[in-house]
Amino acid sequence: MRIAIIGSGSVGAGLARSWSGLGHSVVIGSRSPGSERVVELAASLGNGGAAADLSESVAGADVIVLAVPWSAAEASLAALGDLNCRVLIDATNPFVKGLNLGIGHDDSGGEQVARWATGAHVVKALNIVDARLLDGKKLDDREISIPICGDDSDAKSVAVELIGELGFDVIDAGKLEVSRLLEPLCLLMIKMSMKKSLGNEIGFRVLRD
Ligand SMILES: NC(=O)c1ccc[n+]([C@@H]2O[C@H](COP(=O)([O-])OP(=O)(O)OC[C@H]3O[C@@H](n4cnc5c(N)ncnc54)[C@H](OP(=O)(O)O)[C@@H]3O)[C@@H](O)[C@H]2O)c1
Repeated sequence: MRIAIIGSGSVGAGLARSWSGLGHSVVIGSRSPGSERVVELAASLGNGGAAADLSESVAGADVIVLAVPWSAAEASLAALGDLNCRVLIDATNPFVKGLNLGIGHDDSGGEQVARWATGAHVVKALNIVDARLLDGKKLDDREISIPICGDDSDAKSVAVELIGELGFDVIDAGKLEVSRLLEPLCLLMIKMSMKKSLGNEIGFRVLRD
């Protein structure tokens, strides 16, 4: 698949390395695709990995992944142009002023992203896993669970396949409004990691028979 990843930071670079290593064609959408850091990242990717500015990066992409700070989400989406009917995986968390969710209860970042990216088929996913585990690392010999949600079943199937390839246990958790639950879960994971000194190698897992 051709995947455009918006943002070249911890999440964007981690996903780009993992998916390009699996044979996908990845384009990093960056504010500065010519910067030394981004050029080096693109050069390290196999399978024709490249970097481009935001609008160019999504040309011909089957899937777009949003991996920018929440404060940059609206402007980044606006710069992508028309995303009507495109699959957009939203990995962001709507943090404001440090580790505080700026939206929740009766709305969510995922739903806000869908309003900004008018017509795109938004799937909320990958927001609860630490970027350092994006290679699908197993913990306690088990895959980390990644709940996803969205309103378009075809888009969710694409996300299930792509995220499953990384080595995660992907679970369809329902409609996009389930983002209201997935975003606070990220905060819980971060607080346990930092405040309870559990470290970054912790993951969420849904146990079942
Ligand atoms: N870090 C994690 O473990 C983790 C895990 C799950 C989800 N998330 C979520 O994923 C998103 C990205 O997190 P991250 O850790 O990858 O962030 P990051 O390391 O800070 O990288 C974010 C990237 O977004 C781009 N960007 C666009 N506008 C920006 C702006 N105004 N300021 C800063 N960067 C901007 C930058 O790429 P260019 O310079 O190339 O444009 C930057 O490298 C966030 O919403 C975060 O909550 C993070």
